Amino acid sequence: MIGYGICGSFCTHERSLRALEKIAEKYDVIPIVTPIAAETDTRFGKARDLLERVEKICDKKAVRTVKDAEPLGPAFPLDCMVIAPCTGNTLAKIACGITDTSVTMAAKAHMRHEGRLVIALATNDAMSSNLQNVAKLLNKKNVYFVPMKQDDPVLKPHSLVADFTLLENAIDCSFGDVQLRPLFI
Ligand SMILES: Cc1cc2nc3c(=O)[nH]c(=O)nc-3n(C[C@H](O)[C@H](O)[C@H](O)COP(=O)(O)O)c2cc1C
Repeated sequence: MIGYGICGSFCTHERSLRALEKIAEKYDVIPIVTPIAAETDTRFGKARDLLERVEKICDKKAVRTVKDAEPLGPAFPLDCMVIAPCTGNTLAKIACGITDTSVTMAAKAHMRHEGRLVIALATNDAMSSNLQNVAKLLNKKNVYFVPMKQDDPVLKPHSLVADFTLLENAIDCSFGDVQLRPLFI
């Protein structure tokens, strides 16, 4: 079973769902959505539509609370926890041991048994205030990143966004304890 965390990087939801469709053909997937992603309508789409699509693809209700995410580790072990997209906010929380959303709870519950975590980062502070957290997690056992790139070096000079078309490959590599490379593309 794969846990598929979705955070509030709204502009990348479409790319994440396209990747999720492929992953769900191959693996049993339980969706885990942060409160922000589950409740916020933006110019990129409505929260209700996101939940409906995710739940349809996975054929399961989305986990949306800390309470419902807590068993994903001890009681219901995951083979891999994916966070796609992972916001700067969630990345920083995981790096610093903060657990106050469905996704950070699922990651914590899963990682306490040395579970694999695959992160598809999408944040415009990846190479500024969050660079230390990228480094921290890159240096941590069982944590893998989906290869990423500078999506707009001129207008968003500190931004990094994962290539979601490589997500499935990155998950497969993580099962062999391998980081898919090149990491920066
Ligand atoms: C329209 C919109 C787009 C956003 N895009 C991003 C993004 O791509 N990356 C990011 O790290 N945060 C982005 N944010 C900010 C996050 O949604 C915010 O930090 C939120 O607290 C994240 O919560 P979560 O990590 O629990 O999902 C965006 C916010 C809005 C309203």
